[in-house]
Amino acid sequence: MIYKKVAKIEDKISAIGIGCWNMGGDWDSSEEKTSIKIIHDAIDLGINFFDVAPVYGWGVSETILGKALKEDGLRNKVLIASKGGLLWNEQHQTRNNLSKDSLLKEIDDTLTRLQTDHVDIYQMHWPDPNVPLEETAEALNIMKKAGKIRYVGLSNFAQADVEKMMEYISVDCQQGLYNMLERNPGSYHGIPLEYRTEKEVFPNVKKYGQAFLPYSPLFQGLLAGRFLDGLTISSRDIRNENPKLTGEIFKTYQDGAKKLKAFADEIGRPMNEMALNWLRQKEEVTSIIGGASSIEQLEKNIRCTTWDLTEEELGEIEKILAPFEDME
Ligand SMILES: NC(=O)c1ccc[n+]([C@@H]2O[C@H](COP(=O)([O-])OP(=O)(O)OC[C@H]3O[C@@H](n4cnc5c(N)ncnc54)[C@H](OP(=O)(O)O)[C@@H]3O)[C@@H](O)[C@H]2O)c1
Repeated sequence: MIYKKVAKIEDKISAIGIGCWNMGGDWDSSEEKTSIKIIHDAIDLGINFFDVAPVYGWGVSETILGKALKEDGLRNKVLIASKGGLLWNEQHQTRNNLSKDSLLKEIDDTLTRLQTDHVDIYQMHWPDPNVPLEETAEALNIMKKAGKIRYVGLSNFAQADVEKMMEYISVDCQQGLYNMLERNPGSYHGIPLEYRTEKEVFPNVKKYGQAFLPYSPLFQGLLAGRFLDGLTISSRDIRNENPKLTGEIFKTYQDGAKKLKAFADEIGRPMNEMALNWLRQKEEVTSIIGGASSIEQLEKNIRCTTWDLTEEELGEIEKILAPFEDME
């Protein structure tokens, strides 16, 4: 495993992490037993970073991660990055809430589900325009003093708000949508994004020594070679809510993915490894929080740490990716 270090965080973080969203039942494939085995095998393979959120599977992803880490000594071997600020009702409709009282309740629920006394990085999942950043920071400062969280992260935030938040509390980590075909994306699952990853977030994470966690690193499977012949997911899979996979624009992304697959074949490398290395070799990228729905996928993805793309190969990839630099 390769580990990365940023100024704001004292621990070394594995360049490959695990995103736990697909372990909660919102995606096609998730069985508790398999998810727990993926977590255990990931730790055996040197992964020390897990990203999760209360809203994933309506509490289920956090519960599974907590269960898996409960085993002897495992909690202390890893860093948990969870999130707050996205609530849901009985109909599973979500709403943003970054108010102090709500967050102070949420962190306790998260710690209970995770069966731990602290979260290493606590990230505000999405901005909440109804709550002043100062109030959110007050809640985070209370949690920090109580030892419930170690570091603060912001996910999906405009850079002006990141900098405003830094007036009240240290912002140690940012999380955003980023992969080969979504470099400066303007939306995610139809939700407008108020940041451009490469153009706005990268200069700041570098300047402030923050960690950056790219989510959807494999474009929900497309960059691992899935869906090259068409979308194959069941009607209950959350990816149906991604217009980039289900709308007219899909063909454009699919064509881009096909070109990348052809280049991966040309250099004799698996497409998933090429897509992950393209991310890993960027100094701004700290831990790639990809999802794996089987041990086989985990093992395939981790192989990317055994080789690097050459400068020449990166140059050729850049030519394929140029039309996607500013695509929505
Ligand atoms: N902050 C936010 O707003 C936000 C938003 C989205 C995600 N996230 C975080 O980011 C994490 C990752 O996002 P993501 O799940 O979209 O990541 P992803 O890595 O782009 O997609 C994961 C999916 O790709 C497929 N896949 C992975 N490896 C593969 C391989 N080797 N071969 C074939 N298919 C492969 C699997 O699909 P199948 O399941 O179909 O096999 C897997 O479930 C989430 O778990 C979550 O922690 C955060």
